[in-house]
Amino acid sequence: MNAPLGYFGDQPTQRLIPAEPIVRLEKISKTFPGRDGQPVTALQEIDLAVPQGSILGVIGRSGAGKSTLIRLVNGLEKPSSGKVIVDGANIAALPESALRHARRSIGMIFQHFNLLSSRTAAENIALPLEVAGYDKAEIRARVEELLALVGLTDKRNRYPSELSGGQKQRVGIARALATKPKVLLSDEATSALDPETTRSILDLLAKINDELNLTILLITHEMAVIRNIAREVAVIEGGRIVEQGDVFEVFTRPQHEVTRSFLGDEAGRVLPPYVQNRLTQEATPNSQTVIRIGFRGPHATDPVLARLAREQGIEANILSGAVDEIAGRPFGTLVVGVPESASLKTLEFLKQHGLDTEVLGHVA
Ligand SMILES: Nc1ncnc2c1ncn2[C@@H]1O[C@H](COP(=O)(O)OP(=O)(O)OP(=O)(O)O)[C@@H](O)[C@H]1O
Ligand SMILES: [Mg+2]
Repeated sequence: MNAPLGYFGDQPTQRLIPAEPIVRLEKISKTFPGRDGQPVTALQEIDLAVPQGSILGVIGRSGAGKSTLIRLVNGLEKPSSGKVIVDGANIAALPESALRHARRSIGMIFQHFNLLSSRTAAENIALPLEVAGYDKAEIRARVEELLALVGLTDKRNRYPSELSGGQKQRVGIARALATKPKVLLSDEATSALDPETTRSILDLLAKINDELNLTILLITHEMAVIRNIAREVAVIEGGRIVEQGDVFEVFTRPQHEVTRSFLGDEAGRVLPPYVQNRLTQEATPNSQTVIRIGFRGPHATDPVLARLAREQGIEANILSGAVDEIAGRPFGTLVVGVPESASLKTLEFLKQHGLDTEVLGHVA
């Protein structure tokens, strides 16, 4: 029997036709008046589309324009030119009253949590609901629901000073979700947290994304954040998007120097000092060629060096290596040294087996 059109439920068109992105930036530029009369260009010609229900990571160095970008999305900044469309509305063109209303569908979380110290966890979460004019019973019920969602039911009457960083950010997340937004903006929300707490906050965001189909736009300067939670990534540098795409694709085959430098401290890309210190650009007599091999997806666990030895008679020295997971997919890196005379044959063999290669230099 053929599946009827309504196969996926009562809203078939939602699945069959790709939805309009929930957030769309069109040719956005932003210039600030500088102190010394010299204007500062924070963003230039940014085009960005965020599909509903996705998690998009934006990564960039300090001053790249990340906060400016995210503040444009909820109208805290106005673009100098271009359009910011959120859920069909041009945020930049809305009058103040309409903007206040639109902001209820855009939640935001911050690096330093921005909680009111004079209010308990529950009272902080209730705040946006009070502002929006909900009645007391509704607020109470919604706050309980949110406390449960972020795992803080037993901390409802604690003040921020009595909470850990991770707990404070959970309150921040609950508060951001109070008015049932469609989009959550995160500006370095885990930068003040230790790696383990970061992990638990990212897990919570992933859960919220999954359960509520909430779109998350998160900016960070931490590679691990993107790697662990985002599907799509945009790399921003000097106010421009320099690289963009699927996280696994971008991180395993970085095209731009900035992306490479972010990946520089990732496991498997760091060369041990005894190799790094002896690395030269030019080959010398009897030197070895140092090759980085990237194993993606199905090739991640291939015994390729054994085959290189057996089939080509080339013995490779392993200099460093690691297997990692990026966006839920295995990715291996191996750095090997092979005799200079066999380097071309080795590169060809590796490419034939679908592996990525990069010549890093030579060691005597
Ligand atoms: N209100 C402002 N007035 C003048 N210049 C500004 C203003 N806000 C940001 N800028 C400038 O715009 C550029 C981008 O700043 P932005 O805060 O967006 O960077 P960022 O990527 O968030 O950096 P960080 O990682 O340090 O938070 C910087 O050169 C900054 O000095
Ligand atoms: Mg910033």
